[in-house]
Amino acid sequence: MESAEAIAYSSTANLGPGFDILAIAHNAFHDRITASISDTNIEGGIRLHGMAEPLDPLRNTAGLAAYRLLKEMDIRDSIDLHIMKGVPAGYGLGSSGASAAASVAAIDRLFNLGLSPEKKVEFSMAGEVASSGTPHADNVAASIYGGFVVVESISPIKVRRIRISEEFSFITIIPDFRIHDKTRIARRLVPQAVSIQKYVENARYIAELTSGLITGDRELVRSGMNDAIVEEARKPLFPFYDAVKRIMIRNNAAGACLSGAGPSIMGVVDRDTNVRGIRKEAAEYLKSIGIESNIVISNLAGGTSSD
Ligand code: HSE
Repeated sequence: MESAEAIAYSSTANLGPGFDILAIAHNAFHDRITASISDTNIEGGIRLHGMAEPLDPLRNTAGLAAYRLLKEMDIRDSIDLHIMKGVPAGYGLGSSGASAAASVAAIDRLFNLGLSPEKKVEFSMAGEVASSGTPHADNVAASIYGGFVVVESISPIKVRRIRISEEFSFITIIPDFRIHDKTRIARRLVPQAVSIQKYVENARYIAELTSGLITGDRELVRSGMNDAIVEEARKPLFPFYDAVKRIMIRNNAAGACLSGAGPSIMGVVDRDTNVRGIRKEAAEYLKSIGIESNIVISNLAGGTSSD
């Protein structure tokens, strides 16, 4: 095979209390990457084309993930990666994770490697270092497995995709509010130690949220989609977050949280939610403080698919 293509979807990590553990893949956006064997010998083995930012493979999540894969699998061919970015970068929508996942899936297909999903997560997670400085598996796990995922372990990689109620879909408020190097900065704000009270509070949120998503119990989602630790520490970066969340809850979203490391805010919605109200009020509020926004409705997405 001369070339292979893969698609990976956007994702929302953390879902409130599940920092680095919980995520969903949504069909709001996707990246598409084509991998082909180069006819010339490329120094370092990888060349990036298309919407790659940055172009240096070792500083790009798709490039770095590909580099780790080629090295570990002892592949000596040079590779061209053509990147079509659909997931906007810097908005907490798993953009870097989707690029890394699509890159790994395309190369897996190109060389017929038959990599397990765990192995794909491992290589893709290595790519995340290029954007956030530390490897975290939640976004790439969602993009690779699809659906709602729980990262059970990162060494070794263990991920579980869990079926959730079909009652739920998602609304994502994407404020035009960019912070340079945002994920790196947001990860530095995460406290290194927490009190037992906060630990108990968050453990309760995770239990409520996961059981609510699985059973379709919106009250459990409502009380569980909160976070006393990481969102709390990051909130000063996103001064509009509390007000937008209040708008979503007032319009009867089942729950709302910061999407990954922000600034986007993701709401879980069902037939009882006033989605139009959220659209209107959230956009108007953000505009009133000088921030344009894009609002997207989505459903759960599948995992990486390749041709
Ligand atoms: N779990 C990661 C974080 C997701 O919150 O830093 C980043 O998109």
